[in-house]
Amino acid sequence: MILLDGKRLAGILSDEMARQVAQLRQSTGQVPGLGILRVGDDPAGAVYVENKIKQAKRIGLNVFSRALPDNDEQALVRAIESFNRHPDIHGFIVQLPLPAGWNTNGLLEKIDPSKDADGFHPLNLGRLLADDFDLMPATPAGIVELLRYYDIPVAGKHVVIAGRSRIVGRPLAAVLAGRHPLGNATVTLLHSRTENPGQYIREADIFVSAVGIPHRWKAGMFKSGAVAVDVGINALPGGKLAGDIDPQGLEKMLSAYTPVPGGVGPMTVAMLLRNTLRLFERKMKGKI
Ligand code: GUN
Repeated sequence: MILLDGKRLAGILSDEMARQVAQLRQSTGQVPGLGILRVGDDPAGAVYVENKIKQAKRIGLNVFSRALPDNDEQALVRAIESFNRHPDIHGFIVQLPLPAGWNTNGLLEKIDPSKDADGFHPLNLGRLLADDFDLMPATPAGIVELLRYYDIPVAGKHVVIAGRSRIVGRPLAAVLAGRHPLGNATVTLLHSRTENPGQYIREADIFVSAVGIPHRWKAGMFKSGAVAVDVGINALPGGKLAGDIDPQGLEKMLSAYTPVPGGVGPMTVAMLLRNTLRLFERKMKGKI
């Protein structure tokens, strides 16, 4: 079994992007800017956001980060509108999840689609379904990029995805099933209401889990030689991180696997940075 080393690949891609940012600075006199809006003081969210800020700064982006109260939806609307107008912010994200009861769909629709670094605006999600995109949500992009780097083909394969979130499962299913060079897979999307998920998992050439339940899936459930991609980052009591897939016994079962941590997580951050560069370049087209 080979380990799909997302940490290493994210490092390679980030070094490349750092060079690109330096070049863009030379040719345009401007620096791509990433905005990050965070609501509330959930410590897990804070760790993710701090990491995004650190990696963005490492490749030379300007970072604009604001933390907002969790009892004022209108404050978030105003912050989104101000980032939409801000000339030095080329892409920005609203860190999810938002507080329970907030209108996540309505809020994400307020983001200018041309600054939507996560690709969560309905216009950009719709483009995924139309096979017309150069920008994918960061986690699906990271998974696609990892599989590509390790020469794991998806065309014609059966990809089983567990979890139907807007952040991972739904957009990943759309991309992998699409009619373009990154797609052409046969996709099965499992979720919390799926009856007997094991019957699909044992038929998977590639299995992707984004359910957020520690060690939900075990080695004995997979087809021999399958590839497993673990998007889960679950904190165990005591602070250790566990994926959705129990690593016990995988070695003998799988041909390739993404470790947690160090698999998909770092790729997600690298792809957010790549999206920001693409938005910057789009805006600059004709000016470079
Ligand atoms: N929460 C977990 N993953 C993500 C992500 O990729 N983007 C945002 N905005 N929030 C997240």
